[in-house]
Amino acid sequence: MSFAATILTLYPEMFPGPLGRSLAGRALEEGIWSLDTVQIRDFAADKHRTVDDTPAGGGAGMVLKVDVLAAAVDHAVARNALEKLPVLAMTPRGKPLSQARVRELAGGPGVIILCGRFEGFDERIFDGREIEEVSLGDIVLSGGEPAAIMLLDACIRLLPGVMGAPSSGSEESFEEGLLEYPHYTRPVEWEGRTIPEVLRSGDHARIAAWRKHQAESDTRSRRPDLWEHHNDARDQPASGARRETKEPDQ
Ligand code: ADE
Repeated sequence: MSFAATILTLYPEMFPGPLGRSLAGRALEEGIWSLDTVQIRDFAADKHRTVDDTPAGGGAGMVLKVDVLAAAVDHAVARNALEKLPVLAMTPRGKPLSQARVRELAGGPGVIILCGRFEGFDERIFDGREIEEVSLGDIVLSGGEPAAIMLLDACIRLLPGVMGAPSSGSEESFEEGLLEYPHYTRPVEWEGRTIPEVLRSGDHARIAAWRKHQAESDTRSRRPDLWEHHNDARDQPASGARRETKEPDQ
């Protein structure tokens, strides 16, 4: 059964965009996932096909109208009536997306994704239609479409049959709550920089120990937030002691 993605947008021509290429594009052609776009403007009730209005209370920008959004969401839900799909809205006010949530979504039947433009959505849509607000990080995009493409890309690569080597999905960044270890390939020396000796040793145990150490030390220095979380998860119940990374034999 294929993973069904429905995108509600004012710019359906932005899809599949990059998702029509490479791994995701091939998977789309093979029917591993399917894409359906819904033009939000088709659900405007007036003859000018108005989708937005000025913000209550004043201020800059325009707000997407709740009645138009609800009609578009209801249409998408009815079109996918055989499965109960989660309905997500891309917004910088949402819960930050995690690899764990991506894994859950990829394991399900699909998603309906609402993309906003302008200042945002009328807040009442989220409760009114059980919508999960999702953020791609503390940056402001000009609309939800690029965020929806990123979310879908992250889900699609996890679908069975999309990635060649099954292990490359489980050893990578965030799967263990750590950044992934660094990679190198030939030439052995480039502008005076060499591939670490251990990776050329052929000693698989030493290589595994080195990679684990690199993953831990890079996470600790680059992403103290992830490192803290990783240790809290390992130290159940919390010991309060800060774990150090041990140097492997060089
Ligand atoms: N739309 C605009 N900015 C966004 C963000 N950071 N994440 C998700 N959707 C958005």
